Amino acid sequence: MVAVTDQSTHPQPLADRSPAELDTFLAEQRSAYEALAARGLTLDLTRGKPATEQLDLADRLLQLPGRATDSSGADTRNYGGLHGGADLRAIFGELLGVPTNQIVAQGNSSLMMMREVLSYLWLKGGVTSERPWAAEERVTFICPVPGYDRHFTLTDWFGIEMVTVPMHADGPDADAIAELVATDASIKGMWLVPTYANPTGSVTSTEVARKLASMPTAAPDFTIMWDNAYAWHHLTATETPSADIIGLCAEAGNPHRAVVFASTSKITYAGAGVGFLAGSSETVDWYVDHLGQGAIGPDKVNHLRHAEFFGSAQGVRDHMARHREVLAPKFAAVQEVLTGRLGGLGVAEWSEPAGGYFVNLDVLDGTASRVVQLAKEAGIALTPAGSSFPHRDDPRDRNIRLAPSFPVLDEVTEAMEAVATCVLLAAAEKLHG
Ligand SMILES: Cc1ncc(COP(=O)(O)O)c(C=O)c1O
Repeated sequence: MVAVTDQSTHPQPLADRSPAELDTFLAEQRSAYEALAARGLTLDLTRGKPATEQLDLADRLLQLPGRATDSSGADTRNYGGLHGGADLRAIFGELLGVPTNQIVAQGNSSLMMMREVLSYLWLKGGVTSERPWAAEERVTFICPVPGYDRHFTLTDWFGIEMVTVPMHADGPDADAIAELVATDASIKGMWLVPTYANPTGSVTSTEVARKLASMPTAAPDFTIMWDNAYAWHHLTATETPSADIIGLCAEAGNPHRAVVFASTSKITYAGAGVGFLAGSSETVDWYVDHLGQGAIGPDKVNHLRHAEFFGSAQGVRDHMARHREVLAPKFAAVQEVLTGRLGGLGVAEWSEPAGGYFVNLDVLDGTASRVVQLAKEAGIALTPAGSSFPHRDDPRDRNIRLAPSFPVLDEVTEAMEAVATCVLLAAAEKLHG
């Protein structure tokens, strides 16, 4: 867990209370919950979507681009240019620390690009594969948990087995991963959200990234799916840089190990942004070669529109500072309610992320499903318990992902007050027995 907060603002942890005190506490929580349910709220803390106010920040895009040709003279309206618009690739290449020939810009979804990469690996094999993955007896992926639910459903869809490792504040447990991959050739890859991870907020340190880049692997084509969806999504003035996984892999003599993904989904428009893939130049050639079997060229007008909108890498950073102004108060509200209502009671731990879109809440073991059910019955939608684990199986039934970006600030506070009431009732029921 990351930056866990559990400050002592309450006098006595629940576990230390006498049966009579617990009776009283349970009765209090029941009546608080009844009052909550009677309000007939309809609130949603499920998916990490940008708020309307954030989308509005990019509305100048609706007037762009002001011309059809990009700076290389290419007519963006026509077919071709499979790698994507050069101007935008230069901007995001700078942000990701790669030259333009090591980055591709495509459609609005980086998740779809992840699916494409897995599909190509499955059907054809990668730059360092001996055969297509489909020809392997078994394919296994390492999944740091808690993690991004859609990574896990996608992996499962391929029939890829999943083995979990813990996610820590400085990234996944690299020693556990190194031990697994050293001897098991069926382990072909791993997922990682390196910066402000979904949902823990963890930031993978350069030291952990170096271990992942350099560890010996039984599979020659072990692939790190480095999903940097939140690379520039800082919630504080500190702009923590991501580890340079492509450089670290090259340095370690495994230049093709990492495939990097990013997108503007939570920078401009989630439904009309641009997805990126970066890696060694061989990886990019491999990707574009397979892509070209079914595509003639991406939406380069949208690429030019984005390049004009940002102007430069600094333009992206400046734009993200405006997002921060919208998001930081909502994340602060989450912390305030959690600390004020749950602090010191010993019934929950939570992350205090410095970026990204989520707060990771761990409640008493065995109560997460109950909390989500109570919340639902009171009109507050929470992500289903267990969602951040493969097959939705949280072995301790304690993890809840909170996504405060979309509701307006007052609703975030109201929803969090409700969540706290549900956490307390579920804990009281559990401890009361
Ligand atoms: C870690 C992570 N990766 C990828 C995505 C989706 O990215 P895109 O919109 O570019 O497909 C999300 C969206 O929530 C995410 O949290």
